[in-house]
Amino acid sequence: MILRQVRDTPADAAAVREIAGAAFRALPGGSALPPESAAEITAHLARTRHLAVTDPEGCWLAEEDGRAVGFALSMRREGLWMLSLFAVLPQAQGKGIGKLLLEAAAAHGRGCLRGMICASPDPGAARRYRMAGFTLHPTMKLSGRVDRTGLLDAGDIPVHPGNATHKHLLDSVDRRLRGAAHGPEHDFMLAHYDELLIADTLAGSGYCYRVGGAVKLLAATSKRLAVRLLREALARVPDGTDARVEHLTAEQEWAVDVGLELGLTLESTGYLALRGMKPPAPYLPSGGFL
Ligand SMILES: CC(C)(COP(=O)(O)OP(=O)(O)OC[C@H]1O[C@@H](n2cnc3c(N)ncnc32)[C@H](O)[C@@H]1OP(=O)(O)O)[C@@H](O)C(=O)NCCC(=O)NCCS
Repeated sequence: MILRQVRDTPADAAAVREIAGAAFRALPGGSALPPESAAEITAHLARTRHLAVTDPEGCWLAEEDGRAVGFALSMRREGLWMLSLFAVLPQAQGKGIGKLLLEAAAAHGRGCLRGMICASPDPGAARRYRMAGFTLHPTMKLSGRVDRTGLLDAGDIPVHPGNATHKHLLDSVDRRLRGAAHGPEHDFMLAHYDELLIADTLAGSGYCYRVGGAVKLLAATSKRLAVRLLREALARVPDGTDARVEHLTAEQEWAVDVGLELGLTLESTGYLALRGMKPPAPYLPSGGFL
């Protein structure tokens, strides 16, 4: 088995997607995962290539007999190390490949005091993260059709679509909430997600992204702004599409309450694994860009 850096090539992006698909579908309930849309496939491939360019030393592929069997994609932003995606083919699991990949990726975060991972419920993953010193915060997700009768009162805080001219604002909110800007990930999300919503008032600022039914990342300087942004994002989920809000720790009860009020179903999922930091709040991390 050899480890090598992930390259910015269609072949490596396809290998990462194939391994992730096989590994996540093998988890309990994974066979019920809906097929990815064309846009999701494009974004998945593009994410691997984005990180191979921004963080080549954080992105590793394991090969056996010339075949890719596992990978870890990680990134480092302003003293915060994050694991974006991590998987090993089911038939190659339990042999220490994940441990080696995680160690290689974590070496990229050497010197970072803080770390963040949106972890699946996989017991092997939880073991690896805890043994690497992460605190495991159990997470929930909200999903289902939005009950639009609950949306009649839009509230008095203005929310408007954002674009690349708002990047300084986004990075400032990121630094306040999680101690590090998303930087180049905002370019990625602006290019690949359906919309960016901004609330910028004298009392504070916040933003969130929506792609299809999923609210991907939400950061705000107050719960009041966060609630307003989440309600607006859910109001914009297309008719006939299920909404999805993931990676909610107990600190995000404001979001749980919004979801329950709008008829969404609450379930437990995996963990938000954190090192050297408390769960940011009010904040809904992006699984891939944290
Ligand atoms: C998480 C994952 C990448 C780990 O890869 P791997 O090659 O199996 O990892 P390793 O063999 O190095 O380590 C797995 C550890 O979990 C343990 N483990 C595996 N299944 C377990 C279970 N059901 N209960 C408890 N421990 C378990 C193994 O014994 C091993 O621990 P050890 O080395 O201390 O003995 C892989 O299991 C995977 O792809 N899972 C599905 C996708 C996923 O959830 N990815 C993480 C996203 S956050």
